[in-house]
Amino acid sequence: MRVLLTGGSGFIGSHIALLLLERGYDVIILDSFVNSSPNVIDRIKNYFDNNNLNYNLTTIKGDIRDKKLIDSVFYDSISKFKPIDTVIHLAGLKSVSDSLINPLQYWDINVCGTNNLLLTMKKYECYSLVFSSSATIYGLGDSVPIKEDHNISPINPYGNTKVAIENMFYDLYKSNNNLWKICSLRYFNPVGAHASGLIGEDPIGLPSNLFPFITQVAIGRQKRLKVFGDDWDTKDGSGIRDYIHIIDLSEGHLASLDYLNSKQSCMEFINLGSGKGYSVFDIIKQFELSTGRQIPFSIQSRRDGDVAQCYADISKAKKLLGWTPLRSLEQICLDGWNWQMKNPNGYS
Ligand code: WQD
Repeated sequence: MRVLLTGGSGFIGSHIALLLLERGYDVIILDSFVNSSPNVIDRIKNYFDNNNLNYNLTTIKGDIRDKKLIDSVFYDSISKFKPIDTVIHLAGLKSVSDSLINPLQYWDINVCGTNNLLLTMKKYECYSLVFSSSATIYGLGDSVPIKEDHNISPINPYGNTKVAIENMFYDLYKSNNNLWKICSLRYFNPVGAHASGLIGEDPIGLPSNLFPFITQVAIGRQKRLKVFGDDWDTKDGSGIRDYIHIIDLSEGHLASLDYLNSKQSCMEFINLGSGKGYSVFDIIKQFELSTGRQIPFSIQSRRDGDVAQCYADISKAKKLLGWTPLRSLEQICLDGWNWQMKNPNGYS
């Protein structure tokens, strides 16, 4: 089967690409590389070459808003008698803080780009899609653990674009509910790295997310962690989130593909998280225990847009996809640190 993986050179995309290739899928990675390094592609190839494994990977540099380019990707696949069977769509901008400053860029790339992709899929009769959505759409989650029917109330432009895209899917599915097969996966906090240490999370500039900031403190690239508030209404005053190992998350995508392949048509919104909530202080303690590295920190005021608690109810993913997360917080810390130790400066 042939899969078009948009945004396939990013932190999440690269891990999904590696698992797809291991499973024997033909993979086309389409990426603009605005938020990721082309070196990731070489690392993925190295993994298969070093292990004498066959794989079928095509990489195309491009923007999902480029109508001619997207059309050529589908047209070329059909002309080679290898049509694209499914799209896993991750390409888009994903920084909450940046979306507050550049909302129109987020609406253009995330929403208009997705619309362009869907129009092209429809033209070439490719009706199977897995989408990268986000727990951000739940906004100020007032009840945890969060189920898929929780109130949708994003509090930033990034979250608004994800809701808009999910609404596009819903309208599309309702327009002909015997045609489209769509799984919109709502990610919580993907962290960690592939056990090989060949690929991992390499934010451009200063990390805004907790886990990559911690690994950069551990390797010495950052002096200390700023803890955004120790006065939240939680067990220890620090923010609680749902940290899911990137391989568990990636396996959730393969389980979604299997689910779509078993259906005539469907439209599902599914949480992908560990189902457990850990505080910032839990993460610091576990990381220090697992790696032996000290993580100095200082307490700062709360960060705009943050909520006290956000973690998933993953019973729907277990029931529908037969998927469950397997890796512990300790494994997350060990794999994340292994990546950072082997790549002190990321992919550069
Ligand atoms: C986790 C906890 C912070 C950094 C974000 C995006 C969300 C999704 C996942 C895309 C919070 C605290 C953080 C730091 C800290 N991405 N923290 N010091 O905010 O839950 O979600 O990533 O879909 O859209 O918003 O993740 O890692 O930024 O924060 O104390 O330097 O760590 O306050 O409690 P978040 P995060």
